[in-house]
Amino acid sequence: MFSLAAEVIAEWAYPFSAFVERPGRVNSVSVKTTIRVAAAGDVHAVEPLRERLERAFSAIAEDSDLVLLAGDLTTHGLPEQAAVLADACGSLDTPIVAVLGNHDHHSNLCAEVTSALEDGGVIVLDRGHTILEIGEVEVGIVGTKGFVGGFPGAEIADFGEPALRHVYQETTLEVDALERGVEQVAGCHKRIVLLHYAPVEDTLVGEPERIWAFLGSGRLAGPIGAHRPDLVVHGHAHHGAPRGSIGEVPVHNVAVHVTGQDFAVFDI
Ligand SMILES: [Fe+2]
Ligand SMILES: [Fe+2]
Repeated sequence: MFSLAAEVIAEWAYPFSAFVERPGRVNSVSVKTTIRVAAAGDVHAVEPLRERLERAFSAIAEDSDLVLLAGDLTTHGLPEQAAVLADACGSLDTPIVAVLGNHDHHSNLCAEVTSALEDGGVIVLDRGHTILEIGEVEVGIVGTKGFVGGFPGAEIADFGEPALRHVYQETTLEVDALERGVEQVAGCHKRIVLLHYAPVEDTLVGEPERIWAFLGSGRLAGPIGAHRPDLVVHGHAHHGAPRGSIGEVPVHNVAVHVTGQDFAVFDI
């Protein structure tokens, strides 16, 4: 599951030149146009994984421009487990962007878990976005955990008991945050959506269909289909499938249990 080798499993690169205006003339300048993204979900850090994580992060950082962590960073949502991961991240120069997963919420210590990760230099997104300058490439990353609800034909409705409607509303807040985020990064050269829960059924195939409603929500696909980012990654579905799509947008389940590697690597 945690082999050290990383493999490029997809590529959506296309070359372009930047035309940079200078007073009195226009120059054509070649710039780096492709970035290498390493992504992993469901690392479930815990003390016995310390050495393994340190080796994996140190290896991937040498060959990546950006590392994405798609939630379930810890086993039980404990700050000391987050610190194990933060220690693996702390010495790297490569930017690392993460969202939390349901396991990271389990102990109701999200603020402490986030703080521990930030001590290791990890950018933790919660219904937010960040814009990074990677070489000449402006990369917008929209990150939110996502939530449950199911997919067309088998979805929770905004109806009935307040408790159930509260679940629906929680997903609504996630969808709204995703929409705001993709609007905010619309002008970036590269745009990425980072989730924990799945936005599409494709990447759940392999999981029992009766639990798909707990693994994601098709409502998350709305902003993705409308704004068409370059890459969407999520985790959570340990027994799901690696690849899917929303229209032409590639969606990858990067749970380490699915990829069978420390990191899936994408050139975008
Ligand atoms: Fe997980
Ligand atoms: Fe999860």
